[in-house]
Amino acid sequence: MHTVSCDLLRRRLRRQIADNAYPGYVYGYPHKKAYRPLPCPEPLADVWARQPGGPLFCYLHIPFCHQRCSFCNLFTYVPTASPTASYLRALEQEMAAYAAILDPGRIQRLYIGGGTPTFLDDGELLRLIRSLNSLLDIDLQRTQSCIEASPETIDELKVRRLREEGFTRLSLGVQSLVADELRHVNRRFDFSLNRQAIDLVSRAGFPHFNIDLIYGLPGQTAASWRYSLEEGIDSAATSLFLYPLYVRPLTGLARRADLPATPTTAEMGVMYDIAVERLTAAGFRQITMRQFRRDDAADDSEYRCQRDGMIGLGAGARSYTHALHYSTPWKMLGRNIRAVVEDYCTAMARKTTDVTHGIHLDRDEQGRRHIILSLLDDGLDLAGFAAAFGLCALDCFPAEWEALDGEGCVRISHDRIQLTPRGVRHADIVGQVFFSERVRSLMEAYEYDT
Ligand SMILES: C[S@@+](CC[C@H](N)C(=O)[O-])C[C@H]1O[C@@H](n2cnc3c(N)ncnc32)[C@H](O)[C@@H]1O
Ligand code: SF4
Repeated sequence: MHTVSCDLLRRRLRRQIADNAYPGYVYGYPHKKAYRPLPCPEPLADVWARQPGGPLFCYLHIPFCHQRCSFCNLFTYVPTASPTASYLRALEQEMAAYAAILDPGRIQRLYIGGGTPTFLDDGELLRLIRSLNSLLDIDLQRTQSCIEASPETIDELKVRRLREEGFTRLSLGVQSLVADELRHVNRRFDFSLNRQAIDLVSRAGFPHFNIDLIYGLPGQTAASWRYSLEEGIDSAATSLFLYPLYVRPLTGLARRADLPATPTTAEMGVMYDIAVERLTAAGFRQITMRQFRRDDAADDSEYRCQRDGMIGLGAGARSYTHALHYSTPWKMLGRNIRAVVEDYCTAMARKTTDVTHGIHLDRDEQGRRHIILSLLDDGLDLAGFAAAFGLCALDCFPAEWEALDGEGCVRISHDRIQLTPRGVRHADIVGQVFFSERVRSLMEAYEYDT
């Protein structure tokens, strides 16, 4: 597909690995910093008419939180007046727009993320579930589905309802079990709610329950990290998601100088090693750089979004067809996010659903995306790539494979390429090797909001 120098790539890889760099969380491609206004608006029906049939994933975004955690750059804000009624109405209008252009029954997985989906009260959550069912034919009792929750927004009744309605996973953003670490990142709720939330969800009997923890927080030490890990191990969570801290522009952490120091990237490397060793000993299997699943928990990773399209509902949600990724413009500052949410509600009320902001993916970009998502998951199946693209993945990126192999990050066999443990540890660095020059320069030229 194109050539770069293997020497250059190897030098870059070696330096980043030696620094234990965290160049940015790679979980999709292209990154939203590469999205731009499209040359001309594209009607939603035309965009989806070009997408082959087959199963779809639905991501629904709730952009509200009770506090703005100072590490967080997600598309969310803290509302002063309740915006939920108009937002739910807009979501229903958007669901109706998709229902008009898609065959029923295509959506096979649902993820409700945020922000904080459980910012919604019980009645609002039920209304949302009913709308997904009546407008998009999503039956939670037959669909793999996950909802994110933050500890201060759940109680026994809400958690029980979510389980009874059919959610198969609850993802709980705990971040740390050390009170000072939470205070430093502006998680202002009563610290004991973390423990209570873990107990509530443990009792509710979700087939999959994951707890998110962060390493690299201000003031965090190897000992305090061990403490949070042990609490996770002792809980009934079926998976732990461990995120290295990314200090992102415009976040509270990037702007505050009065906090205890954050651990160095070398110290974060030690925390990662502690986690791998301790969780393996405690009967967890490492699935990715971030996910560790209990050996006796059911596999929940059969979904492969390299192949399927994704409908994003709500302001801030991304949607993927094979040739176009789109969303509302990404903003970081609360007042700008609120403006995008309000514009979204107005647009839905006027039935204005043209796609105006995103990025087109040609065959080269589609191939890169396929490789990145496969490598970061369970590996790249060479025959599958050849069937999808009519090309051999090894021939498309010879310098990249040679550099990754030379640095001990991948294992190449006759039919499959997989990350080695070193590659898993540095998965964000490995993923970026396949970013195109076009996407890199769009990301570099991205201007944060003011
Ligand atoms: C989509 S967010 C979930 C948000 C949810 N409202 C919550 O706080 O529980 C998923 C996870 O990403 C992690 N995360 C978010 N920003 C991060 C950052 N800057 N560095 C590391 N991890 C981050 C947190 O662990 C968070 O729970
Ligand atoms: S981490 Fe979660 S609760 Fe905190 S601001 Fe981000 S989305 Fe909201």
